[in-house]
Amino acid sequence: MYNIKIYFEDDEEMEFECADGEDLITASIRQEIILMSECRDGLCGTCKVLCDEGEVVHGSGVTVQSLPPEEEEEGQIIMCQAFPQSDLELSAPYGSDRVTLGVALPTKTYSSKIMSCEQLTENVTKLELQVQNHFDQPEDFPFIAGQYVTIEVPGTEDWRSYSMANVAKDDGKIELLIRLLDDGCMSNYLRNNAKIGDSVDVKGPFGTFNLHDSKDRSRYFVAGSTGLAPLLSMVREMNDKGDTTPAHLLLGARNKDFLFYEEEIKQLESTMETLQVHIALDDTEDSEWQGFIGNSVEMLKSILTENDETPDIYICGPPGMVTAVEETGRDFSIPTSQIYLERFVASS
Ligand SMILES: Cc1cc2nc3c(=O)[nH]c(=O)nc-3n(C[C@H](O)[C@H](O)[C@H](O)COP(=O)(O)OP(=O)(O)OC[C@H]3O[C@@H](n4cnc5c(N)ncnc54)[C@H](O)[C@@H]3O)c2cc1C
Ligand code: FES
Repeated sequence: MYNIKIYFEDDEEMEFECADGEDLITASIRQEIILMSECRDGLCGTCKVLCDEGEVVHGSGVTVQSLPPEEEEEGQIIMCQAFPQSDLELSAPYGSDRVTLGVALPTKTYSSKIMSCEQLTENVTKLELQVQNHFDQPEDFPFIAGQYVTIEVPGTEDWRSYSMANVAKDDGKIELLIRLLDDGCMSNYLRNNAKIGDSVDVKGPFGTFNLHDSKDRSRYFVAGSTGLAPLLSMVREMNDKGDTTPAHLLLGARNKDFLFYEEEIKQLESTMETLQVHIALDDTEDSEWQGFIGNSVEMLKSILTENDETPDIYICGPPGMVTAVEETGRDFSIPTSQIYLERFVASS
């Protein structure tokens, strides 16, 4: 058993033990310390920390994108793929307020059935699943707004990660927004084979991309394509809880044909007095279009300039878009501690 000390940016520290052959994220969760992590496959880089003292070996999941060689040389490690070879001292690039203490929601494998599969645009499908027990009765599937599941692509042994767009309501319903690639395992299944009643195995819930106490600051939710899913779940949760923190939901699309969930979002805006929805179209010839013309990064810059505030920013979508929004936040002097993000890295 190795002793692991982890220091945070706010000078707090925590300690846990890690068994031989156990990765650091699994060990911390086992001891009810929920550190920042997302994919737990070595892909997204969310669990990266600096190893100040001690030795680890990495598992095979780490990629050059999640841990470039120069960062590895500096001593950065990917905790979900790091197996200690000695006691360790680590420095996390975030404050201890990002750590949840307590039992993680149990992650297990559930059975589910497809309730609906609807193509919303040329490249986005809405998939609704009903989690069921052995008697085909609905089974509860608890999760926190912002979390994700992995689902097995029917007929294969491949698993893919998707964030819930709904809020858990003790009814085992899961609503997913899935971007279809030209040639992807899940994309091909959804385009060509998926039908109502198909069985789908679901594992989860996973992830630490959740709402945080805003301490009276506004919240900006910036979505790239299906990155809307976990952000919508958070906004829906705010609505359900009567949370009146001022919120802005920013969504960008190439043009109107690529826009989805416009009605659902506008509906939320009309029920939540403190929510403002902003939609940007990159390339529109629609002279009636009243929203922003440009991409979501340009729209964010324009809103931040106009509002002159330093809000909490929640960002989700493809890695390039997430990085561009994160950099914009920094350009506007938003502290890293107020930027929460999730990158939809390829699961395969
Ligand atoms: C934590 C997490 C949550 C996620 N949540 C969502 C979600 O809610 N909605 C959603 O649409 N996606 C989400 N993703 C991404 C999703 O898991 C899959 O990667 C994506 O749907 C592709 O699956 P596929 O089987 O169709 O393609 P694959 O068979 O995995 O890939 C086919 C090819 O496309 C490449 N590729 C994969 N993803 C991309 C990409 N984004 N851009 C360009 N090329 C790519 C692959 O490298 C491969 O060469 C999430 C990923 C993570 C890690
Ligand atoms: S790389 Fe560790 S959680 Fe994604």
